[in-house]
Amino acid sequence: MLVARDADRLAATAASLAAAHGRAVTPLPADLATEAGCAAVAGRLAADPPVDLLVNNAGIGLAGSLLRNDVADECRMLRLNVEAVLRLTLAALPPMVARGSGAVVNVASVAGFGPMPGTAYPAGKAWVINFSESAHLQVRAHGVRVMALCPGFVRTEFHARAGLGTTGVPDRMWLAADDVVAAGLADLARGRVVSVPDRRYRLVTSVMRHAPRSLLYRWVSAVGSRRPKRDT
Ligand SMILES: NC(=O)c1ccc[n+]([C@@H]2O[C@H](COP(=O)([O-])OP(=O)(O)OC[C@H]3O[C@@H](n4cnc5c(N)ncnc54)[C@H](OP(=O)(O)O)[C@@H]3O)[C@@H](O)[C@H]2O)c1
Repeated sequence: MLVARDADRLAATAASLAAAHGRAVTPLPADLATEAGCAAVAGRLAADPPVDLLVNNAGIGLAGSLLRNDVADECRMLRLNVEAVLRLTLAALPPMVARGSGAVVNVASVAGFGPMPGTAYPAGKAWVINFSESAHLQVRAHGVRVMALCPGFVRTEFHARAGLGTTGVPDRMWLAADDVVAAGLADLARGRVVSVPDRRYRLVTSVMRHAPRSLLYRWVSAVGSRRPKRDT
């Protein structure tokens, strides 16, 4: 089952996946930043046939800064990046716990490991990491797992859609979406609770976690000021 807002694109993706893998793929168009969209998907997660693996992947970024952005845009981002993750995880877990199997993968980000001047995006992703670990601790005894998947820069439509510039990002720091998925599923099979695909980003997150806070503030402020606000 695939969820996104663009019904035509969803139907085309479902058809090509079904043809490539010989499996039934059901498109479920829904806007997860709305009450109705979340309720529709949550309803499906609580119904039969059971869902073995929920991937909370839908998420958006936001250009600009906390000082200048419209608070409505920050709230819309957090409704999708945080509230939808909470609601869908809580809808999926009870049937999984009752069956004694299942997993939830919440797509967070390397950005969730530390602060970054800009928008509420890193704070939302920090929440996703903590929430996934906390939920995992509550369900692991029932044979169910919750994992936070934390990629670095991935080549997708994410940055263009958010109006975030990427021209300063070195080529070597870009990951391919297929590699992130493969690494994430391998980490899920290994029982990891927080997955950071790629050795370079494991080094980055280790520095973010262990560096003295004052040093980290200087580093992320310098990185933030070097990044172009928009590609031209
Ligand atoms: N790309 C990166 O560098 C990067 C790095 C770290 C973490 N991430 C995280 O990875 C996840 C996936 O992002 P991506 O890079 O694949 O971005 P993307 O290419 O922009 O894809 C986002 C997906 O989410 C769907 N979506 C957006 N808003 C939605 C809504 N309101 N309701 C339902 N579906 C919605 C989009 O489909 P529709 O527009 O049709 O709804 C699309 O399928 C996000 O959580 C993001 O924060 C990305």
